[in-house]
Amino acid sequence: MKSEADYRPGPRPITCGGRDEEREFYESLVARHGSPLLLLSRSRLARQYRALQDYLPGVSLYYAIKAFPHPAVIETLAGLGCHFDVASEGEIDLLRPFRISGRKTIHTHPVKKPEHIKAALRGGSTTFVVDNLDEMKKLLPFRHRVGLLLRVGFRSDSAAVDLSRKFGCAPEQVEELVLQARDLGIHVRGLSFHVGSQSLSPQTHVEAIEHCGRLIESINRQVSNPLSVLDIGGGFPVDYAQEGLDHSVWFRPLREALAGLPEDVQIIAEPGRFLVAPAVTSVSTVSGKARRGDYQWYYLDDGVYGSYSGQLFDHMLYPLQVFRDGEQRKPSILAGPTCDSIDIVAEDVLLPELEEGDLVIGHMMGAYTAATSTRFNSINAARIVVVD
Ligand SMILES: Cc1ncc(COP(=O)(O)O)c(C=O)c1O
Repeated sequence: MKSEADYRPGPRPITCGGRDEEREFYESLVARHGSPLLLLSRSRLARQYRALQDYLPGVSLYYAIKAFPHPAVIETLAGLGCHFDVASEGEIDLLRPFRISGRKTIHTHPVKKPEHIKAALRGGSTTFVVDNLDEMKKLLPFRHRVGLLLRVGFRSDSAAVDLSRKFGCAPEQVEELVLQARDLGIHVRGLSFHVGSQSLSPQTHVEAIEHCGRLIESINRQVSNPLSVLDIGGGFPVDYAQEGLDHSVWFRPLREALAGLPEDVQIIAEPGRFLVAPAVTSVSTVSGKARRGDYQWYYLDDGVYGSYSGQLFDHMLYPLQVFRDGEQRKPSILAGPTCDSIDIVAEDVLLPELEEGDLVIGHMMGAYTAATSTRFNSINAARIVVVD
């Protein structure tokens, strides 16, 4: 976790005001289910899935369950034909009630305990990601049933969360690892990478795709069992800053890079954030207020130990909305409900005077929010309500 000194949940889009019907909708849900809430919209989720299919035609999508591990998300996406990226035994368990074939999953955690491998095999997974020889050897007893994707690391400055620091072999190691796998009798199906989450520029994806394409061509000249899969990971960004991020522009260079790959390479992706972030809305309530120095403090019933945990762990700031729209705006602080002083949702924001019982809405809060919330102070997590 970041230290308090590093964490500044400052300016971000804040809407003051809104339509009466919108406010009444949230109020009626709070009256029925209590506060705080996370509202999951299946129709928005489906829209995101279809949009991504359009942006990446021909790419098989494997939802990264970790982003928002909820049965309604799995059910909705499975119904649309989505496949799944699992990275733990718990995530495999989540798929079980929906009888999703293991062939529609890939196990993407590069480092696995033997019991995790067995659980994934029992779940029917046959594709496993590894990034080093030791992990490859763990799969040796199952070599007749599994195929590997070799994860390659490409560091990214433009991603909010760099995922190639902790995992991924260096591109220079790829050939040697593929040849070692061949000598062990394990089939490497292809390569994978994750350039980092919320990648604001498509350039790192493009460079990684081109680099992997060259590696695949070079390796396929040397082996009889060719690499036939490229997994381009996740990292596709959403517009938290509401600056008009145009996804049709963002995805174009990726499509062009994919078109340059050898024709017989199957492309897959593991999106998390892009699918779920816009599909979930947080509703919390002002439970108290205080004037301290130059600031008006409001204490909410949800905070960074709860649904707003992504502000710390995932480094995102979510667009907020309050329904009051007074002319007079005061420097304000929105604080969470725990006793810890790092539990601040927004500071130094200009807000009209709020009252106890007012609702505070957090938009685009599906990715890495509920997934990382804690029970600190024995405060319950926001209830997740499926709204359509
Ligand atoms: C292996 C792997 N795949 C996919 C994802 C999903 O990434 P994103 O939410 O950026 O699309 C992650 C995120 O941590 C990951 O670690």
